[in-house]
Amino acid sequence: MKRDLLGIKQTSAEDLLAILSHAKEMKQIVLSQRKRIPNLSGRTVVTLFYENSTRTRLSFELASKYMGANAANITASGSSVAKGESLTDTAETIDRMGTDILIMRHSMSGAPNLIAPLVKASVVNAGDGMNEHPTQALLDAFTILEKKGKIEGLKVAIIGDIYHSRVARSNIYLLTRLGAEVSVGGPATLLPVGLEQLGVKVFKSVHEALVDADVVMCLRIQLERQKSGLFPSVREYNRFFGLDEGRLRFAKPDAIVMHPGPVNRGVEMSTAVIDGAASVIDEQVTNGVAVRMSVMDWLIGGLEK
Ligand code: CP
Repeated sequence: MKRDLLGIKQTSAEDLLAILSHAKEMKQIVLSQRKRIPNLSGRTVVTLFYENSTRTRLSFELASKYMGANAANITASGSSVAKGESLTDTAETIDRMGTDILIMRHSMSGAPNLIAPLVKASVVNAGDGMNEHPTQALLDAFTILEKKGKIEGLKVAIIGDIYHSRVARSNIYLLTRLGAEVSVGGPATLLPVGLEQLGVKVFKSVHEALVDADVVMCLRIQLERQKSGLFPSVREYNRFFGLDEGRLRFAKPDAIVMHPGPVNRGVEMSTAVIDGAASVIDEQVTNGVAVRMSVMDWLIGGLEK
């Protein structure tokens, strides 16, 4: 039976831990001079993105190439999607061309779940609406493990627009499953009802969420949300919820600071924090390639050897 990665929620802890463990080996390949292993030799990986991306799309493409696969990319604007072809017809067309792994991003929550049963290829959710972004959470967890040596017992503060964030949801599922204590903080309009049922502590002020945090994860403010009146202005957001050096002092002195990218400098974080000693944002980007290599190896059964 083929494997898909549709979300953290429906993936077993055993599989998630196996992916995280194997990513250590894959990182050595990413950091080496000769980035080439045969694990996906002869396989075809296609990225199908209906939304913009730099990190996720490029890291899947590079990961595929480092593993010897044939890699191709399709975006909605440059394909027959722009002529009105449906998502299911597009995915089935890609599948018929011998695709082994289909990486997809779509604005509709559940789009990968719709496609997975229709295609022979293994489907990876590279972000679906407000639902999940599982490889982002995996690369975040991998980065925390690298920096802190563990996840169990750590206090992780997630700050910002929780409501619209698939990154927040996947991280909450993964980090609570691995034993972290997760706090969330942000404007009341961007904190969805029922968050506590996911096992997190909810704060309407940033400093309360930050107290004694080992890990601070800021989320991108989706500027288009301002038009919906969910927060008054970018300047006001920064004043009350932005992470600067003063607010960071509420966290532990050795706290690490994370952001999935792209960052709005001076909005969700100050430049001093983004480029400061606590920031691991650059490592997150590198780890994204390693974790996505590990995910694709897992999809084809390569971790069972
Ligand atoms: N973090 C993330 O998903 O970034 P991209 O939108 O650039 O892929």
